[in-house]
Amino acid sequence: MNSAILTVEKLSKQFFLHEQQAAIPSCAEVDLQVFPKELTAIVGPTGCGKSSVLKCIYRTYLPGAGRILYQNEAGHTTDLAQASDHRVLELRLRDIGFVTQFLHCLPRKPALDVVSEPLLLRGENRETARDAAADLLRLLNVPERLWQVPPATFSGGEKQRINLARGLISQPRLLLLDEPTASLDPDTSERVIDLLTTIKAKGVGMLAVFHHPELVRRLADRVVELIPQKTLCHE
Ligand SMILES: Nc1ncnc2c1ncn2[C@@H]1O[C@H](COP(=O)(O)OP(=O)(O)O)[C@@H](O)[C@H]1O
Ligand SMILES: [Mg+2]
Repeated sequence: MNSAILTVEKLSKQFFLHEQQAAIPSCAEVDLQVFPKELTAIVGPTGCGKSSVLKCIYRTYLPGAGRILYQNEAGHTTDLAQASDHRVLELRLRDIGFVTQFLHCLPRKPALDVVSEPLLLRGENRETARDAAADLLRLLNVPERLWQVPPATFSGGEKQRINLARGLISQPRLLLLDEPTASLDPDTSERVIDLLTTIKAKGVGMLAVFHHPELVRRLADRVVELIPQKTLCHE
């Protein structure tokens, strides 16, 4: 069997609400693995910490405890729970991609540039990057009249397609997906499923949260179930 791209061991994170003297556990003692050419799905009720696990791996959140072992192409392992910000940014450039439910950055750039930017940051030339962006936008059913428009005014589904295209363009080794099809129409959802299946077959390892259980059945090779945590109140 291939060795894991990602091994998460006993990952925990909690938030302290100082006014209420309460600790809100967002995820606790999570163990999981992601392999090349496979998709691991995280399931569980709302609030059980699915998004928090992804954010800890991408280091949007600093993990509280546990290990997040990422293995690069050369077989070198980095613990993302301990890695420097510099190392994390380096890995985000080539190795680790994250497609969230929402397009967080809404720059005044045309959609085509928003999508091609990750390739430009990696040193690709503008024309190659724009061609790749155009291919993806076409594949995801984004009408050509929108390509030169900044995505700030797009509908939820259109923004999500820009978000997906931006996350997929650089073909990371590890792809984190947080409800990537939640606001898409059925036709575009099918295209996304096809695209994810193709990318998976090329060797990408994926860790995903899906809105619909049907997508877990269709795409997941492994399923990790998170258990809701109780809020601990201190006296
Ligand atoms: N930045 C944050 N500040 C405070 N609490 C948070 C934060 N992020 C997540 N939480 C809390 O952690 C728990 C898990 O949230 P989340 O990971 O978003 O769950 P899920 O994605 O499974 O719905 C929730 O109780 C949520 O309120
Ligand atoms: Mg979530």
